[in-house]
Amino acid sequence: MRLFLIGYPLGHSMSPFIHGLFLNQIERKGTYELKELSPDHFDEHITILKQSNFDGFNITIPYKVDILPFLDAIDPQAKAIGAVNTVVIQDGHWTGYNTDGQGYVQSLKYHYPHLFHASSRLLILGAGGASRGIVHALNDQCCASITISNRTVEKAAAIIESLPKKKTYHAISFSEAEATLDQFDAIINTTSLGMEPHVKTQAIHLDRIKQGAVVSDIVYKPFNTALLTEAKLKGAHIHHGHEMLVYQAALAFKLWTGHDVDVRPVIQAFEEKLK
Ligand code: ATR
Repeated sequence: MRLFLIGYPLGHSMSPFIHGLFLNQIERKGTYELKELSPDHFDEHITILKQSNFDGFNITIPYKVDILPFLDAIDPQAKAIGAVNTVVIQDGHWTGYNTDGQGYVQSLKYHYPHLFHASSRLLILGAGGASRGIVHALNDQCCASITISNRTVEKAAAIIESLPKKKTYHAISFSEAEATLDQFDAIINTTSLGMEPHVKTQAIHLDRIKQGAVVSDIVYKPFNTALLTEAKLKGAHIHHGHEMLVYQAALAFKLWTGHDVDVRPVIQAFEEKLK
């Protein structure tokens, strides 16, 4: 199994570690290479990769949209999201998928299945690429309403426009979110606020949080973000962001190999590295 990841910069990517553990689980030999591609020669790099002998790859920031013109086929949900994080290669034919949102949803559902009941109301903070994937995945599987709050409210409204309509939707500002926080059963941060090195920042404060609400943050460095720290102090349930990375990787691995893997020991090993 020959796999790789493209992105720029790649830094200390955890994906080789995660996929290495998955390969061990299915007792398969394989490689997962890091290919940091500079943006000024992106097209040439991809053209070369198209001629080489790999089984699949992942795409991370900033190429999840740039890869689209190089695909031979695209999964309908990835098309609706407008971004691809996984490519399966078969006989030189590239098919694009997006496992980010589904990965996030699987992790949230594992810990908090009650949020997927028809009556729950979710608040998503952020309206970038990560938010778009998560909102599309949630839209298929849960809840009474989805509210998206963003610094730029028009971007939240644009995500709502892109959804097949199945429930109630709102696009609101961060101050409106803070003022109406007691209406939500879960608050999900998809912004980059709180990520190293800006560890003290958070999109909203949680003074009006509803008792028993879940606060989830897709930022996993630091492991306990400012938002999650405040959530703990307020007695909320919390959900850590590193699990999304492992679940989305497991879904990509299944697309490449056909094998289901056990994510729990991999999450445990990842957590030990983060703490
Ligand atoms: P990703 O692919 O990780 O989602 P992105 O598409 O760049 O990254 O989206 C980043 C998100 O974080 C956006 O919701 C962005 O808000 P805007 O849409 O208003 O730009 C949010 N974000 C980033 N920096 C921010 C800041 N300093 N204050 C508020 N929101 C911020």
